[in-house]
Amino acid sequence: MLGFPGGMPLTGINRRDAGTGILPGMTHRSQHLLAKACAALLLAAAPAFARDEPPPGECPQPRFTGKAPDEYYLRKNPLAPDTDLRQARRIYLGDGKKVACAECHGEKGDGRGPMSELFEPRPRNFACAKTVNDIPDGQLFWIIRFGSPRASMPAHPQLTDEQIWQIVLFLRTLAK
Ligand code: HEC
Repeated sequence: MLGFPGGMPLTGINRRDAGTGILPGMTHRSQHLLAKACAALLLAAAPAFARDEPPPGECPQPRFTGKAPDEYYLRKNPLAPDTDLRQARRIYLGDGKKVACAECHGEKGDGRGPMSELFEPRPRNFACAKTVNDIPDGQLFWIIRFGSPRASMPAHPQLTDEQIWQIVLFLRTLAK
């Protein structure tokens, strides 16, 4: 989820109640100033909220991702370990036209892509062997295909099974 702590609902209330007067005895102008002061306070508080979240790229990384159904979870990567991974790397890094994996997961897979700060939970840190080596192939496959609804991990229905297995193999090369 994108994190805009607190800011949105306040704006909503003030818009809706502008003109009717939300606080008795206050002029419109002082209400307006009060709203501004509250908004400023909330903005100032935002970094404090952010500090409570684990930083992107933590290792080991807290992980609460939903578990794939067994028909996926138990699948092993059918590709040979020496499969050509150039296509997988290209998909992962992207061509700059669409949001690619690296935007969130980082070019090196360290979970620190340019967009990683925006998401809570944070994008998976594939460079973190402690976390990713315990995740089975079939689980990685399932999340790449269907996404993680609790997080901002998108589904990728356009990728073939073969492409996803190549990506899974590629992700394994990033772990240290
Ligand atoms: C918009 C940001 C974003 C993009 C783009 C993105 N991801 Fe993710 N990804 C996430 C987030 C956030 C999570 C954490 C999900 C969670 O905690 O449930 C995640 C988690 C994962 C996981 C972890 C699965 C698990 O069980 O732990 C895999 C694998 C993954 N992404 C692969 C990819 C691949 C491959 C691509 C590109 C084809 C991609 N992601 C693109 C944000 C993104």
